[in-house]
Amino acid sequence: MSIKSVVFLLLVVVATSYAQTKCCCPDQFEMNEGVEVGMSQAGKGSAVFESVRLAFDYTNKRIGEIGTVIIDGEASQVQVILDYNKGVGYSIDLKTKQCQKMPVPGPMLHCVPDNATYQETVYLGDHKLTVDSFGISFKTGTASLSVSKTDCIPNSFNVIGQFGETALLAVTGFYNYSQGIKNPSKYFTVPDYCPKSFTEEPVFGNRPSYKLFS
Ligand SMILES: *[C@@H]1O[C@H](CO)[C@@H](O)[C@H](O)[C@H]1NC(C)=O
Ligand SMILES: *[C@@H]1O[C@H](CO)[C@@H](O)[C@H](O)[C@H]1NC(C)=O
Repeated sequence: MSIKSVVFLLLVVVATSYAQTKCCCPDQFEMNEGVEVGMSQAGKGSAVFESVRLAFDYTNKRIGEIGTVIIDGEASQVQVILDYNKGVGYSIDLKTKQCQKMPVPGPMLHCVPDNATYQETVYLGDHKLTVDSFGISFKTGTASLSVSKTDCIPNSFNVIGQFGETALLAVTGFYNYSQGIKNPSKYFTVPDYCPKSFTEEPVFGNRPSYKLFS
């Protein structure tokens, strides 16, 4: 091999490993999450819209969400609490006061996953925001994740795949980031009507996971 091609190879290796740096998001923040899902369950079509504000708390290994979920036109006010230290989660319908307790497998996602592959860097607006996007493939589908370049704040997350009987496409956008969590108890206080033991029947049905954080 000529010196030239060795140097070239080195450059490619350096450039690739630089481009593939897997960043980690800030430890504590709040942001809004908007999700649109189209799915087909055993031939029946279904649409889910979700608009929540989430509190991401890596310091205490927990995520809280409060907002609205619309499943096939029916809206609910919901709260989700995921406690990775205890390995438990709660899915709460705030109006009907129904609460499901479920196991939450760890670890909590905090960084662009190791097995993600760097795809490209693009900017939004007139060079207002630069984002890196990554692809993640799993057995029955693919996902793509984009994060802001310097601070690694999630920007978008898309999933397309087959989960058992369900085929789905889910598109998620993140916006209105703010550093820190102003009122943790608003997000993380488990209502007293929540059960002590795990629920057999899920409150919102057995929906496949299409979200980045839950
Ligand atoms: C990549 O990581 C994700 C999340 O940890 C996992 O679900 C997926 O199966 C992994 N994919 C591969 C190809 O290892
Ligand atoms: C997002 O931030 C803007 C600007 O601060 C604010 O006016 C708007 O109400 C926020 N939207 C939501 C859904 O929180």
